[in-house]
Amino acid sequence: MKQETDLKARFARDGYLVIDNFIDSTTSKQLKTRAHQLVETHADLEAMKVFDCTSREHERDDYLKDSADKIKCFLEKGAMDAQGNLDRPLSKSINKIGHDIHDLDQIFADFSYQDQIFNLLIELGYQTPVVPQSMLIFKQPSIGAEVDIHQDGTFFFTTPQSCVGFWFALEAADKNNGCLWVQPGGHELPLSDRYAVKNGVTEMLPLATNEYTEDQFIPVEVGEGALVIIHGNLPHFSKANTSPLSRLAYIMHIVEGRTKYHPENWLQRNFCTFPQQGTHKKTC
Ligand code: FE2
Repeated sequence: MKQETDLKARFARDGYLVIDNFIDSTTSKQLKTRAHQLVETHADLEAMKVFDCTSREHERDDYLKDSADKIKCFLEKGAMDAQGNLDRPLSKSINKIGHDIHDLDQIFADFSYQDQIFNLLIELGYQTPVVPQSMLIFKQPSIGAEVDIHQDGTFFFTTPQSCVGFWFALEAADKNNGCLWVQPGGHELPLSDRYAVKNGVTEMLPLATNEYTEDQFIPVEVGEGALVIIHGNLPHFSKANTSPLSRLAYIMHIVEGRTKYHPENWLQRNFCTFPQQGTHKKTC
């Protein structure tokens, strides 16, 4: 009990937690294998979009919106040649898969709705946690793109704020292959933006002015199997992967089901409660 209390206190102080060896090596291997199988079964070369926060290509033709209740693959920008064709094998070209893996794939559902995750959420103060989003981010060798400074609550706006990210390292992450960088204590800042969809158009609505300098951030280098828990207001980013090693991570974004989920959030779907609360997830 003392350890659990310490966990909550450290999370309240720092805005993030690292739990090493959360996943055992057998489970990590199983999830990795399944991730690559999902690429093989779900990558649609004709339809796939590049996930690019600058061009926002992934928002075109409702590709992003349609992924809310599906498993869809997004391409890495650096995997395309000047003509827009893949210049490497498909398995090395995927930026990420999202966004309902945890409900639609049995292996990831069993992992995502496990007791250990539910118990951590309860310890952190959640009463009825629900999982809007899951992603597999590949951060491919040499081409895995950087992700700019952001707060996850921007994309999962609830009243009151309740977003939290559970970031599982399925491969070791260090400064060379694009580990997370976080601003300790930065979760005390307000959300700087809210990502909204109005009449089919996405926009970033400014809420506050947060100013960052890189020296405020520290790298979170972790081994395979680690869990990093990220407060929804915590500023974080990752640099490009310049190494020959990929940096595969599985990420769940969770909110409190008793809060008001903003109707302009891009991801809209009925969310499942954890089965530990008596509602079978498949009935949601
Ligand atoms: Fe994030």
